[in-house]
Amino acid sequence: MAVLGRDEIINYLGGGNDDGLYSTADNLRAENFGREVYLRAIVEFSNVCNKKCNYCGLRAANSKVSRYRMDVADIIESANLAAEAGARTIVLQSGDDFSYSPDRIEEIISGIKGAHDVAVTLSLGDRSAAEYEHWFKCGADRCLLKLETTNPDIYGKIRCGEDFHKRLKLLRSLKQIGYEVGSGIIVGLPDYTVEQLADDLLFLSDLGLDMIAAGPFIPHPDTPFSSAAAGGIDLSLRFTALARLLNPFSNIPATSALDSFDPEGREKGLQRGCNVIMPSVTPVSKRRNYNIYPGKNAVSVDVADSVSRAEELIRALGFVASASKGSSRRMNNVE
Ligand code: 5AD
Ligand code: SF4
Repeated sequence: MAVLGRDEIINYLGGGNDDGLYSTADNLRAENFGREVYLRAIVEFSNVCNKKCNYCGLRAANSKVSRYRMDVADIIESANLAAEAGARTIVLQSGDDFSYSPDRIEEIISGIKGAHDVAVTLSLGDRSAAEYEHWFKCGADRCLLKLETTNPDIYGKIRCGEDFHKRLKLLRSLKQIGYEVGSGIIVGLPDYTVEQLADDLLFLSDLGLDMIAAGPFIPHPDTPFSSAAAGGIDLSLRFTALARLLNPFSNIPATSALDSFDPEGREKGLQRGCNVIMPSVTPVSKRRNYNIYPGKNAVSVDVADSVSRAEELIRALGFVASASKGSSRRMNNVE
């Protein structure tokens, strides 16, 4: 459904018509979601990672990170608190930490789904399709697997030799298994071009995703990209607004990375086509160590406060925090 050509996209990404882009994106969001914004509570249950992505503070080689792994009971407890505070989606996120066996992940999913009528999203990285299929049968509803870039060469470089096609194959398998699937990129990685970002947009839109996440690149001091330039909030806001134009029904979060540049970054996202926010509900003592990029999880409030602050942000903009799980419109056959 390419309603926009590549040249037009490149012009918008360069700031050619911000007012027109943002108002069209906002109108489309309003048409499809009304005043509702979906809130997804993220439990970042382990910051251990066996990968070496050049952009990410959690990369295995970063010995400055104080690593933690939450146990099953504590993960379920955080999810329970978030659900009691009103969250209807729980996102379970970790680095590529394969020390959690399929059975333990199953225990977490069943523990949460057994106690609350919530959707569970898995953001666990490169686990096998068979494992993901098993967790789908256990009741997990959604998966988030970011491509970070849709250019195979750049992917190999920024993720230290990882294979783009393998990642893409897994993403397609997740869809086939029956999950609602989200993916996305980092906007403004070192040496990016607007042409590449236009191709990223077209590629992601062709995948027919239920959720598209994109936030600005933020250099982390303890990574090989420490001295690279930051991605920039405007570029990121243009990217998500264009994603809305190309994907009217998809869930598009205003990512927390936006707030690293501008305290009102997420608000701006919600006024420019985004319809989701994702507060961290990781226990405060651990949260600051989930330091993917500087400024991530800088706010130290408990679970209930995290959810209510997100609700306040939504209300302050004249929106309502949706009481629904915010399932994909595509899955409900609206599209
Ligand atoms: N800047 C912005 N986003 C980043 N991510 C990882 N490192 C950075 C960074 N330096 C994003 C990636 C990853 C998600 C958890 O955070 O997209 O999938
Ligand atoms: Fe690990 Fe994900 Fe960071 Fe890569 S982006 S180092 S896989 S946590």
